[in-house]
Amino acid sequence: MASSPAPPSDVSAPRPLPKAELHLHIEGTLEPELAFALAERNGVKLPYATEDELRRAYSFADLQSFLNLYYALMAVLRTEDDFADLADAYLARAKEQGVRHAEIFFDPQAHTARGISIGTVVNGLARALDRAQENYGISTRLIMCFLRDESAESALTTFEAARPHLHRITAVGLDSAEVGHPPEKFKEVFALAREAGLKCVAHAGEEGPAAYIWEALDILGVDRIDHGVRCMEDERLVARLAAEQVPLTVCPLSNVRLRVIDDLADHPLPAMLDAGLLVTVNSDDPAYFGGYADDNFTAVRDALGLDEATLRTLARNSFRASFLDEATREKYLKEVDAHQA
Ligand code: HPA
Ligand code: ZN
Repeated sequence: MASSPAPPSDVSAPRPLPKAELHLHIEGTLEPELAFALAERNGVKLPYATEDELRRAYSFADLQSFLNLYYALMAVLRTEDDFADLADAYLARAKEQGVRHAEIFFDPQAHTARGISIGTVVNGLARALDRAQENYGISTRLIMCFLRDESAESALTTFEAARPHLHRITAVGLDSAEVGHPPEKFKEVFALAREAGLKCVAHAGEEGPAAYIWEALDILGVDRIDHGVRCMEDERLVARLAAEQVPLTVCPLSNVRLRVIDDLADHPLPAMLDAGLLVTVNSDDPAYFGGYADDNFTAVRDALGLDEATLRTLARNSFRASFLDEATREKYLKEVDAHQA
């Protein structure tokens, strides 16, 4: 299907820095145009008359108010073709934003709860991802997230249902409503994932406290923290994250839209870099938060006055923090060093 087109590349515009995107929910890339097209294809009625009316709903008081819309719109995703089209539309946009490597989250429980099998989701996404290198020059990985506001048993059932697909999955993650759902709740399923040879990541310290970051590290054994901005409230934690160079996948435009941070000009990103943290910049749910990967780079450059060297550090960090093999990582780092806008 003709998905929403990526913005045309303007030959006179500066070329975006090569970068990896490490915090990207594929369901959060569902643009209104594609949502309406899929609704029509699948005979699903959306509670919005037009794309503009839907866009006007993108005003969020907090994480939960966003999640309500995010889950509701997923009703249009039903078939393998839908998931393939969704991922393909993201990859087309990501290419325009300088993304060379994408580690992509998906939320199987948000689909299985609607009667869509995990095989439909994974096979559909994999169809687009398998062609990403050839079509867009982007390498990809898949990260399967558990919904932390669902039970630990549901996460375990999901992991077992995913076993036939684990060869396509690089890591497990933890997302959805954070407060009241500490990482410790998912100790067992993360242990199983690690036993199966998967990497582990978890959203922590977005709306939830710094204590959840400690738990994600010490109890879940995660390799990266997603968001993690609230680590800045705990000096001892910052020292640990810096000493161990634990990557933090920060999402600046998301933080402002979900009111984690009042104003982009007050974002702790510069302080995090000064503290020696391995920070990366990502888009989270770009269809909802006003920008894709390079839009986030540009926004922090403008709001925080970041210089070219700092932006290049952020681009380098994105590859350093990725789950790539060493040879490919080095290849991409050389691309960053050689990049000329
Ligand atoms: N936080 C938690 N869960 C999510 C998010 C987020 O920013 N986006 C999609 N699921
Ligand atoms: Zn997220």
